[in-house]
Amino acid sequence: NVQDLAGRPDELTLTPTLLRRYVRPQPNTADLRPDAPAGEEQEHVPIIDLGRLLGPDDLAGGRDEEAARLRSACEDWGFFQVVNHGIPEETLEEMKRNVMGFFALPLAEKAAFAQRPGEIEGYGQAFVVSEEQTLDWADMFFLLTQPPSYRDLRLWPSNPSTFKNCLENYSAEVQRVAGELLGAMAENLGVRDHSDMTRLAASQSVRMNYYPPCPEAHVDSVLGLSPHSDAVGLTLLLQVSKVPGLQIRRKGGWVPVTPLPGALVVNVGDVIEVFTNGKYRSVEHRAVVNARHERMSIATFHSGKFGTMYGPLEEAVGDEEPRYRSISVEEYVKLVVSSKLDGKNIMDAMKI
Ligand code: SIN
Ligand code: FE2
Repeated sequence: NVQDLAGRPDELTLTPTLLRRYVRPQPNTADLRPDAPAGEEQEHVPIIDLGRLLGPDDLAGGRDEEAARLRSACEDWGFFQVVNHGIPEETLEEMKRNVMGFFALPLAEKAAFAQRPGEIEGYGQAFVVSEEQTLDWADMFFLLTQPPSYRDLRLWPSNPSTFKNCLENYSAEVQRVAGELLGAMAENLGVRDHSDMTRLAASQSVRMNYYPPCPEAHVDSVLGLSPHSDAVGLTLLLQVSKVPGLQIRRKGGWVPVTPLPGALVVNVGDVIEVFTNGKYRSVEHRAVVNARHERMSIATFHSGKFGTMYGPLEEAVGDEEPRYRSISVEEYVKLVVSSKLDGKNIMDAMKI
């Protein structure tokens, strides 16, 4: 438990072997593009206005313009921030309060929700597969949220008392936004039956991340979350505070995603890259840590249901050759859980 470890700084300095498990040989700052041409402006992740994207189909409404921005965000960046999404501010704020409240509980109380061996849901650490692996400086709490039949309500905390209600409400709102974004992508791609794309919002899971402050001396060689691309359809992320940490791979360097108040960060996952035959890119990202401030984020993942298939869509392939295999969702999930969080290795396994 990293939160508990970070709360005992004396122990950290007394037992360097403990800390060494989190320290990487290469400092994180090494690949921040120190060679970027002088005067080149820091690039910013595109911002998409969902109200405009779904608005009236005329020039004044700006719908076509917004659709073009969405297309370019998916093709070029793999990431964007969505604003004017229609989720009430109070729903976002309440979700943040409840997640902060959960992580602030005493360790013993959180431990009641601990991930059991072989299970993916619960409170613990993500992607620990070996004793040798460098560990991430974070704790997480992972729950399946949609469809409701996938939920294990024994793992839904009753402290904070509003947690269950709030998560249920938040989950439905985010699923709605995911479906609307997938519909707009289907339109952009010329997919005839939009449900071929929107079915990627059929199932949903939520990963709440807690990154404690990291000792000053090690902050540049410890990561909160290792570089990875998301092995899902579409991810919507809520950054709980203004403390930055998320960075995305771009042009050989890392671009920070500055939290924009009220916005959700959206990224194309591996499954959309497969669906679009590589037209939309599932981009690697990571989380860095901060020496003084804790950071929290809430990632909501959307995927297809069991009993369906993943593969390139006919309309996206067009006259090209399919670049990825078609496999069942079950087979895909097996592939994901058997590989560790390491760049884009799952995508390589999907390539034809
Ligand atoms: C993620 O990859 O799930 C997001 C990391 C973060 O911003 O905390
Ligand atoms: Fe991610």
